[in-house]
Amino acid sequence: MAKINTSLEGKVAIVTGASSGIGRASTLAYAAHGANLVIMSRGKERLQAVAKEAEAFGAEVLPVPGDIGEEADLQNIYDQTIDRFGGVDILLNNAAIGEGMMMKNLTYESFERVLRINTFSGIRLAQLCRKSLKERGNGVIVNIASDDCLYPSVGVGAYSMSKICQVHFTKQLAVEWGKDGIRVVCISPSLTRTAMTVDSVKGIEAELKKGDYRLNPMARVCEPEEVAAMVLFVSGPAASFINGYNYVVDGGMAAQAPI
Ligand SMILES: NC(=O)c1ccc[n+]([C@@H]2O[C@H](COP(=O)([O-])OP(=O)(O)OC[C@H]3O[C@@H](n4cnc5c(N)ncnc54)[C@H](OP(=O)(O)O)[C@@H]3O)[C@@H](O)[C@H]2O)c1
Repeated sequence: MAKINTSLEGKVAIVTGASSGIGRASTLAYAAHGANLVIMSRGKERLQAVAKEAEAFGAEVLPVPGDIGEEADLQNIYDQTIDRFGGVDILLNNAAIGEGMMMKNLTYESFERVLRINTFSGIRLAQLCRKSLKERGNGVIVNIASDDCLYPSVGVGAYSMSKICQVHFTKQLAVEWGKDGIRVVCISPSLTRTAMTVDSVKGIEAELKKGDYRLNPMARVCEPEEVAAMVLFVSGPAASFINGYNYVVDGGMAAQAPI
């Protein structure tokens, strides 16, 4: 078989939540494989720092600070992408918030906020990008969900429900937009070492050291670059017939027998 093609030469990718963790690692993977980038997060300085890192790979990078919970900011990142690059080939819906809250305390306002930021922002960006993804051909939307969509953790109900919505939003778009040459793929990582999870990683690593491998069969947590590798693969030409699927990157967590 010929060499697998992961080149993104000539492609333009929008990445939300690019200033940290999985978004940063994916941005750098895209840049290293030839894509130009439009990157977004609320904090300007960290975003600019990641833009510099990506530029070191030769990518053209446009940092657009903004909040994915705000319609005007979503419209702005799309408009700036079209102004600067003339179109978009890849949309990586990565940014999310991880609000802790027990179901007995969940209010409509909290639920609406988490769904708007974690789920609807991705739907809205996909709507904005649809025409351009179709016109350029081989468009790809990648949604970052979470293994919480499969096995929810106590106290993160709104988050895990927003993540299973992302999985189904992926499938819904895949069946509606596949005919337009647009693929939609979801990736669900397990606990990954990022800014979002500093305390959880500390706790889990302490338990893994004691030998509780049920917390992960590979006896460690995931690294952002390991998620980015899957992001890169599904975004590229080698994944040309992969559509509507949720890839779990969890070191074998979901493979275990229930306790
Ligand atoms: N880490 C894990 O264990 C894990 C596991 C499963 C799934 N995930 C998923 O992976 C994705 C990335 O998480 P991560 O762990 O890499 O998180 P992270 O390191 O905390 O990074 C989150 C990124 O999103 C941005 N962001 C947050 N809220 C935003 C908003 N309203 N508008 C725009 N940008 C926003 C942050 O920048 P600003 O704060 O400056 O905006 C930052 O760039 C999320 O969808 C998360 O649910 C993570």
